[in-house]
Amino acid sequence: MERYSPILQLIALFLLPYLLSHNLANTTIDLNTDEFSLLAFKTHITNDSSHTTLGKNWTTKTSVCHWVGVTCGSRHHRVIALDISHMSLEGTIPPHIGNLSFLVYLNITGNLFHGDLPNELAHLRRLRVVDFSNNSFAGELPRTWLGNMTDGLEEMHLNFNSFNGIIIL
Ligand SMILES: *[C@@H]1O[C@H](CO)[C@@H](O)[C@H](O)[C@H]1NC(C)=O
Ligand SMILES: *[C@@H]1O[C@H](CO)[C@@H](O)[C@H](O)[C@H]1NC(C)=O
Ligand SMILES: *[C@@H]1O[C@H](CO)[C@@H](O)[C@H](O)[C@H]1NC(C)=O
Ligand SMILES: *[C@@H]1O[C@H](CO)[C@@H](O)[C@H](O)[C@H]1NC(C)=O
Ligand SMILES: *[C@@H]1O[C@H](CO)[C@@H](O)[C@H](O)[C@H]1NC(C)=O
Ligand SMILES: *[C@@H]1O[C@H](CO)[C@@H](O)[C@H](O)[C@H]1NC(C)=O
Ligand SMILES: *[C@@H]1O[C@H](CO)[C@@H](O)[C@H](O)[C@H]1NC(C)=O
Repeated sequence: MERYSPILQLIALFLLPYLLSHNLANTTIDLNTDEFSLLAFKTHITNDSSHTTLGKNWTTKTSVCHWVGVTCGSRHHRVIALDISHMSLEGTIPPHIGNLSFLVYLNITGNLFHGDLPNELAHLRRLRVVDFSNNSFAGELPRTWLGNMTDGLEEMHLNFNSFNGIIIL
């Protein structure tokens, strides 16, 4: 121990806790990102006639991994699937959905969502299956969105909506 200079010991003493706390903060930020994204999603639901399910269920009292329709990865506890199909939900999809960076499966079929799909969906690089069918979406599908997503995307269901324009794959 005496061989090491006091300066090195001092550096270790202050740097180590800093590095550790930085890592912990990072994990917390990531977990909160999923919660923050889904709570933003919830505030964009204007009519949740099935009040007993999503509206009362998606609260900070429990981890997002225990919310109805949400599935987390067993190892990293990040949201990997969101299935809120046939819940009579009305509203829009906020850009915050693009922060669910571990999302693989997204199914919102059979609701009354309207408006445009946010460009931020293109940030979801792990997305494999999306089902937006049977809603009231309108507008155009941005070409960049499709271009960037088609890398890993295996299934995309868009039928029974009011999208405009041509889909170029
Ligand atoms: C958290 O750490 C990972 C690597 O462990 C890094 O890729 C990621 O960008 C970090 N996230 C934040 C919000 O700092
Ligand atoms: C909310 O949705 C229900 C069921 O879809 C519908 O009966 C009701 O009229 C809607 N309320 C509003 C304020 O749009
Ligand atoms: C939310 O729903 C899930 C799945 O149905 C259930 O396991 C959980 O207990 C519910 N949580 C609350 C706070 O209602
Ligand atoms: C979405 O959910 C509906 C009903 O819950 C199911 O029938 C449909 O197959 C699902 N879509 C995909 C692409 O998994
Ligand atoms: C999530 O996404 C929104 C909109 O894209 C952005 O403004 C916000 O800073 C993001 N939040 C986090 C915690 O990453
Ligand atoms: C669309 O969703 C509604 C509400 O869940 C359901 O009653 C209807 O059968 C669905 N229509 C199609 C064509 O899937
Ligand atoms: C799509 O990818 C291009 C280049 O790979 C990038 O410049 C662009 O920002 C991406 N678009 C979105 C919406 O992420």
